[in-house]
Amino acid sequence: MLPGRAAVDRMRLVAVPSLPANKGTGPGVITPDGCAVEFYAMLSAGPEPEIVHAACGRAPSTILELGAGTGRISSALATLGHFVVAVDESPEMLAHVRHAETVRARIEGLRLGRRFGVVLLPSYLINAPDAQLRDAFLQTCAQHVSPAGCVIIQQHSPAWFANAAVWERESNGMIMRLTDVQRPGPDLVSATAEYEAEGRTWTHSFTVMRLNEVDLCSSLLAAGLRFDRYLSSDQEWVCARPDAHRQPGRQGEAPR
Ligand SMILES: C[S@@+](CC[C@H](N)C(=O)[O-])C[C@H]1O[C@@H](n2cnc3c(N)ncnc32)[C@H](O)[C@@H]1O
Repeated sequence: MLPGRAAVDRMRLVAVPSLPANKGTGPGVITPDGCAVEFYAMLSAGPEPEIVHAACGRAPSTILELGAGTGRISSALATLGHFVVAVDESPEMLAHVRHAETVRARIEGLRLGRRFGVVLLPSYLINAPDAQLRDAFLQTCAQHVSPAGCVIIQQHSPAWFANAAVWERESNGMIMRLTDVQRPGPDLVSATAEYEAEGRTWTHSFTVMRLNEVDLCSSLLAAGLRFDRYLSSDQEWVCARPDAHRQPGRQGEAPR
């Protein structure tokens, strides 16, 4: 049985040490959360668009991506036939987005007054150590998903947290490594990702928090969402749906 809301809130108050903010270094613009615009602009779409497309049943949908960056995922989804709105706080990131509507805004507090068949919260944003920020992200998801729609969340998998360690790999002429891996508290991992490409080097130092299933389900419920299923066997991709018992008032368009 899931613990009550008060119990969950008490658990969250337990000893989260004060943590340094995420930060990045390297050429070009670095976003407030430490991401390098020029590095993300170089990346190919990768597997993420197909995971979301499959979750949509490969039928055109309306999709809201929160923290869309350069549109690596959004632009690919638009090319697959979806109507996509890409949200990011960085105008320099959004300048790279193609084939999708863009909205410059912070995710927390975003209220577009429109609803979408799919709301996507990718890139491990849900692993932010700040519980209030995570709750605000989920509130935004709940406020923008249509009653029959779904929220797709990408989290670091339990195996990622268990095995986080220094590594280095080379792919497509790019060297990526994880360094400075530390565990500053229960369920916390801090590390620096380094990327080398075309003679340029970027770093991104971050801290992430592991969410166990009980915490995740409780946080979803508090936002008016319920856990539906994992979209990948490693539990990295989560599908949630509006909680039928806590349907918020409708605010706009229905999904296509
Ligand atoms: C790691 S990048 C990933 C971008 C894209 N989802 C991808 O996979 O290529 C994270 C993006 O989220 C944005 N971001 C992080 N926190 C945000 C917030 N609270 N509000 C709006 N954008 C945010 C950053 O500006 C950055 O562009």
